[in-house]
Amino acid sequence: MNLKLLFLCLFLAVLFIPAELKNKHDKHKHRDSAHPERHGKHEKKKHRRRFKDIIEDDFFKIVDEDDEDDENGHSDWFSENWYSDGQCTPNPCFNNGVCKEKGERKFKCDCPKHYKGKNCERGPRICKRGQCGYGECILTSTPPHYECKCMRPFQPPDCKTISVCNPNPCKNGGTCIRDENDFDCHCPEGFGGHFCHVGPNDCYVDDGESYRGNVSETDDGDECLYWNSHFILASGVNPFTSFEDKDGLGPHNFCRNPDGEPKPWCFFRRGLRLLWDYCDVPKCPKSTHEPPTEVAPTQPKPPHPEPTHHKPPQPEPTQPKPPHPEPTQPKPPHPEPTQPKPPQPEPTGKLPTPAIPSTGKPIHPSATPLPPTTGPKQFATCGIPQPKKALTRIFGGLKVSPGAIPWQVSVQVKPTGSTQPFRHICGGILIASCWVLTAGHCIEPNKDMQVLAGSLSLSKPDPGTQTIPVKRTIKNPNYRETSEAVYNDIGLLKLSGTPGFCANETQFVKTACLPNAPLPDGTECKISGWGATEQSDYGSSHLLEANVLLINQEKCSDPSVYGNILDNSMFCAGYLEGGVDSCQGDSGGPLTCMQNNANVVYGVVSWGDQCGKKNKPGVYTQVTHFLDWIKANTEGAIP
Ligand code: ARG
Repeated sequence: MNLKLLFLCLFLAVLFIPAELKNKHDKHKHRDSAHPERHGKHEKKKHRRRFKDIIEDDFFKIVDEDDEDDENGHSDWFSENWYSDGQCTPNPCFNNGVCKEKGERKFKCDCPKHYKGKNCERGPRICKRGQCGYGECILTSTPPHYECKCMRPFQPPDCKTISVCNPNPCKNGGTCIRDENDFDCHCPEGFGGHFCHVGPNDCYVDDGESYRGNVSETDDGDECLYWNSHFILASGVNPFTSFEDKDGLGPHNFCRNPDGEPKPWCFFRRGLRLLWDYCDVPKCPKSTHEPPTEVAPTQPKPPHPEPTHHKPPQPEPTQPKPPHPEPTQPKPPHPEPTQPKPPQPEPTGKLPTPAIPSTGKPIHPSATPLPPTTGPKQFATCGIPQPKKALTRIFGGLKVSPGAIPWQVSVQVKPTGSTQPFRHICGGILIASCWVLTAGHCIEPNKDMQVLAGSLSLSKPDPGTQTIPVKRTIKNPNYRETSEAVYNDIGLLKLSGTPGFCANETQFVKTACLPNAPLPDGTECKISGWGATEQSDYGSSHLLEANVLLINQEKCSDPSVYGNILDNSMFCAGYLEGGVDSCQGDSGGPLTCMQNNANVVYGVVSWGDQCGKKNKPGVYTQVTHFLDWIKANTEGAIP
C-alpha cells in the first residue's frame, strides 16, 4: 500500500459513505450496473444460453489449466509445511486434525475423514476444476459426493459429450427442436421455462417465502445455480447454514426466498463471479388464496446435502447458540403487521421493522447511559454473541444478523465544534463498557468523535442503538505510516459516561475478549464492517461479515505478496487467491477468532493494497502484540 491509498481510504469513507447511505436501496442498482452491457434491466430479451455462450464461458475455460489448489480453496501456501519442528502447540493440524507428538521433534496429525496431508491440509478431492466439463459440480451426501449438472446439450455424467435432443431435455411433453448444437423446447399450453419445467399456476404469494415452484431463471434470464453448488460454497457462502428459512432449499436450482427478500431469488454465475438476482416468477393473482406452488412433485426432499464437505463439521462460528435464552429481551417492537405469512413452524426472526420515530432519529441517540437491562453485572463476559436467526447475503459478504457481532461499533467524526452531522469513518471494537479499540489511523486531530453501538444499519439505526460521544482518544505512540505500510496501527477511544459505565450491555451491545495467545496460521476468523464492497465503492449501509484465514507471516512477506515491509505489529489474513477481503471504511473494525470458546479480537482492520486482489490480502494490527499497552491504557477496565 502507499500513502495515497491510505488517504484514499479515509477520503472515500468520509466523503462518500454518507452519500451512499441516503440511497441505501441502491444495492440492486449496483447489482445491475456492474454489467450494463450484458445485464441491463432494460434488456428484457431472454434466451437460453446458446452453445456458443457455453463454450465461450470463462468458467469452463479453466478446464485445461493445471489446478494445483486443494479442494478447500486454499492455494499452495496453505499446504506448505511450516511446522517441521514437531511441536503440537500451536496445533499444526488443520481442519480439526488432532496433533500427536512423536519423539522430540516430530508430530503426526490424525486427520478427520476425507482430509489428508501432513497437516490435514488437503480436503476431499471433490469438485475439482474441470471435473464437470461444461457443467456445474454440486455436492451430494452420498459417494462420490458430487454430481455434474450439465449445461445442455452437454451430457452426464461428466458434461464433456454432446447430444442435442436425445434424450429429450424438454419436460412435461415439450418438443425438442434442434438447431445444430442448440435446441429449443416447444412447450405444451401453460408450461414454460427453457425446459418446459415450469407448470401453470407457478407463482408466489406475499414475499414468496412459501414458494416451492420450479422457476429457475432470474429476471434477466440467467440460469440459477444449484443451492448445493460447489461454486456457491467455494465463494464463501453456505446457503444451508446462512439462511434463516432453509426449508425450501435443496439439491435443486429453483428460486426461493429463504431470507426475507421481497420475492424469490437465486444465485447465478457470471464468469467466475457469484451474483444473485430476483427470479422471473409471477406473483399469484390476489384472488388465488391457495399458493399453487407445490408443482415440483418430482423433486426429492433434500437429503441433507453436504455443502460443508470441504470442511469438517464445526459449530457455526457466526451463529453460536446463545448459552441460554435471554428471557428478558424485549420482543421486536413492531413485527410487520401488514405482512401475514403462511403458517410457519417457527417465527421468522426477520429483522424487526425498526421503531424509528418520525424524525428518523435513533431511539437512543443520547449519551446518557441507559439503565442496565440484563442484570446488575454489566459486561461480565466477553466474546459471546446472542444472534437472532435472520441472516441474508449480499455480494461477497453476508449481512450480519442482529446481535451476531455485538462488539462492532461505527466510529464517526465531524469537525470540532461544527454543526455538521457525524460521518462513519471507521469501525471499532467494544472491549469494555467505556473503551473502544480501533485503528490508529482512524484517530484524527481536530475532530469530534462518537461511536454507534448496537446497530447493523448506519442509515437507519436499529432500535437499541447506543450513540456515545468519545471523551478521549489514545493513539499508540509508536504509530507510524510510510508510503507503503502502517505500523503499530492501533488506538483506543474512551467513551463518555459515568466512571466504568458508558455503553450498556444488551443483546446487541457486548464486548469482545482480548486474545491470550497467538493462533495458528490457517485459523478461520471473521471480519466485519460497513466498508466498500465489490458492488459499492461507497460502503454498505448494512453491516457485512466474511470469513478469512490467518496467513503465515513469512508467506505474506514473500516478494510476490508484501515483501519485507511487514513487521510484527501486523499480520495478513484473507485468501492469496483474492476475493474475500476487508476494504475502505472497514478500518478499525474487528477480525475476531474463536479462542477458548469466545470471540477474541485478534486483529484490527488496518490496510491492504486495494481490496480482494490476488496476492494482496488484508493486513491487520496484531492485537497480541499490544496486550500490555491496551491493559495499561484502559484504566484497569480490562483485567
Ligand atoms: N485503510 C482502509 C480503511 O481505512 C482499510 C483497508 C483494508 N484493505 C484491505 N485490502 N483489507 O478503511
